[in-house]
Amino acid sequence: LGNVPCLDASHEKLVLELSNTTATSSYRLWFYQTCTEFGFYQTCEDTSCPFSRMLTIQSQTELCSRLFDIPQDRLPVHIDFTNQYYGGNQPQTQRVLYVNGNKSRWILLSLYQGTVMVIRWN
Ligand SMILES: *[C@@H]1O[C@H](CO)[C@@H](O)[C@H](O)[C@H]1NC(C)=O
Ligand SMILES: *[C@@H]1O[C@H](CO)[C@@H](O)[C@H](O)[C@H]1NC(C)=O
Repeated sequence: LGNVPCLDASHEKLVLELSNTTATSSYRLWFYQTCTEFGFYQTCEDTSCPFSRMLTIQSQTELCSRLFDIPQDRLPVHIDFTNQYYGGNQPQTQRVLYVNGNKSRWILLSLYQGTVMVIRWN
């Protein structure tokens, strides 16, 4: 691939990027939502995970207090509120098609009932 330089994939670089309030990247916004609404973190804590074991729930949620002054112990309350508000796994929706790839980890945020597609017609 030519002379492509190595990427700085350090935790500190991530913190710097997420601290930048003028950046146009939506990642900071998404991260804020994980702290205030979803709590959806990708971690690598079990032995079958081939990536860094430093990606833990603790290291992820610690960023909520560091970046946004949102205490880690508030996350369960925020997540519970979101699930209550939107209905969790039983949203009161109509005419919605939930399409999932069953190898996608995002499936956990969708309505999944053992099939890749769930139709809530009425
Ligand atoms: C923040 O992001 C903007 C836009 O991408 C960039 O121009 C600026 O250099 C960044 N600031 C820091 C401190 O990284
Ligand atoms: C994904 O789909 C395949 C093919 O239908 C099926 O064999 C497999 O059990 C599914 N996996 C999950 C997690 O639903």
